[in-house]
Amino acid sequence: MGLLRSSPSLSLGFLLLSLSSVSAVLAHAEAEDPTIRTMEEFSGYPFRESPSWVADPLSSLPVEGENLQKQIDELASLSDAPAPSVTRVLYTDKDVMARRYVKNLMGLAGLSVREDAVGNIFGRWEGLEPELPAVATGSHMDAIPYSGKYDGVVGVLGAIEAINVLRRSGFKPKRSLEIIVFTSEEPTRFGISCLGSRLMAGSKALLKALETTVDIHNISFLDAAKYAGYAQDPVDLMSIFLKKGAYAGFVELHIEQGPILEEEGISIGIVTAIAAPASIKVDFEGGGGHAGAVLMPYRNDAGLAAAELALAVEKHVLESGSIDTVGTVGILQLHPGAINSIPSKSHLEIDTRDIDEERRNVVMEKIHQSAIRIAKDRGVKLAEFKIVNQDPPALSDESVIRAMESASKDLKLSHKLMISRAYHDSLFMARVSPMGMIFIPCYKGYSHRPEEHSSIQDITNGIKVLALTLAKLSLK
Ligand code: GLV
Ligand code: MN
Ligand code: MN
Repeated sequence: MGLLRSSPSLSLGFLLLSLSSVSAVLAHAEAEDPTIRTMEEFSGYPFRESPSWVADPLSSLPVEGENLQKQIDELASLSDAPAPSVTRVLYTDKDVMARRYVKNLMGLAGLSVREDAVGNIFGRWEGLEPELPAVATGSHMDAIPYSGKYDGVVGVLGAIEAINVLRRSGFKPKRSLEIIVFTSEEPTRFGISCLGSRLMAGSKALLKALETTVDIHNISFLDAAKYAGYAQDPVDLMSIFLKKGAYAGFVELHIEQGPILEEEGISIGIVTAIAAPASIKVDFEGGGGHAGAVLMPYRNDAGLAAAELALAVEKHVLESGSIDTVGTVGILQLHPGAINSIPSKSHLEIDTRDIDEERRNVVMEKIHQSAIRIAKDRGVKLAEFKIVNQDPPALSDESVIRAMESASKDLKLSHKLMISRAYHDSLFMARVSPMGMIFIPCYKGYSHRPEEHSSIQDITNGIKVLALTLAKLSLK
C-alpha cells in the first residue's frame, strides 16, 4: 500500500516496471492522496504518460556490470596479500585507501558523505521527505587474511550501484536512502566482530572494552583509530549509538557464503534469520621445558591442553545432534613456538554458532567444563576463559521480507527464503531497525578464501533486487 500511495514520486518508467496494473491503482491513489500533485510536480515525471521502453523490468534497471567488475577488482588490489587473495585489516593503510576509494564513489553518486567516530561511513541521498527516518543499505569492506574480493564488497559497491540505477531510472525517493559502510565486520584485528554496527546498535559493553583493547602488536584500538583519522576524542564514541527507529529499514546485499543458491540454480536468497554467533578466548599455562630432557610423565604441556580442547569443541558440537550447530578453532598459538621446547602457554580462539541460541549456549557451557577438566587432568592452569561475544540470532522483519520478495517477483528472478549461517552487520542493525538481507549465489559456496567468486550476472541481479527493495521501502 505504501508503494502504491507514493508511486507518483517515481518516474513512469520505474513505476511501470514494478507494478502491473498501475493506472487503476494510481487513479485510486490520486483520489486518496492530496500530496500527489506536489510530488508529481517535484519529480518532474508525470505518471500518466506511458513509455514503451519499460516492458521488460530486467532490462530497465540499468546496472553497469562492466564498470562494477572494474571497481570490485580495483578495491581487491588494495590488499596486503598478493592477488587473488585479499587481506584488508581495520585501520591499516590499505583500509584507509579503500575507504577513500569508496567515499569517492559515493561522492560521484551524488551522496553526501559523513563518517562517525570509528569510521562507519554514511552516504545519503536526500528524499522528498527528509524528516522521515531513512532507509539504509550497506555492508563492510574489511577482508580477513587471505580471503576473497566479494565478501562485504558486493554489498558496498552494489549499494552504490543500486543508488546509481535508481537515479538513472528517474526515481525520486520519498524517505532518504542511505548507504552505510560498516567498520570492521571481521574480528581480525581486535578480536571483536561487527565492531561498527555493534556500536551503532548501542553496545555500552563494547564501548568500555575498547578503552583497553589492543591488537597482537599491543597497539591500542584508540591509537589505531586515530592513525586512520578517527576517534580523535574518545568521549565522542557515544555519538555512534543510533536511536531505535533511526532507520525505517535496513537491507544488506551479500554473497551467500554457502552452496545452496548455486546448487539449486536460484538467483536470490531472501534471508529470514541470522544464526547466533559466539566466540571464546582461552589461555592455558603449563611448565614448559626441554623437549628432550623432560620425560613424558613430568610434563604440563599447555599445547596438548589446547589440542585436547580443540577436539572437545568438535565433540560437543557434534553431540548437539543438529547439522546447524558448528564450531571452529581458527586460532591456536603456542609459546614459545620452538620445535624443541614444550609449550608453556597456549592460546585458542573458538567460534561457535547455531540457529538455535539455547543449543549453542549448551555447547559453550560444555566447552567451558572441558577446559576446566583438561586443565586439571594435565596439571596446567586455565589462565583465561573469556566469552568475547555471545550474540542472539536476529530475525528479518516481515515488511522487509515482503519488499524483497515482491522485488524479486517484479524482476522475475527465482528466489527462496533461507537463513544466514554467517553473521553480518545486519545482525546488529536488526536491534535498531527493521532488517532484511538479499543473498546471491557464489561459486561452490566458497568464502573466506581466495577462490571466492560471484558472477557479474548474479551480482547484477542482486543489485536490481536491492534497488527495487530500497525504492519500495523508501516510498512507505
Ligand atoms: C563473517 O565474516 C562471519 O564469520 O560470519
Ligand atoms: Mn567475512
Ligand atoms: Mn561479510
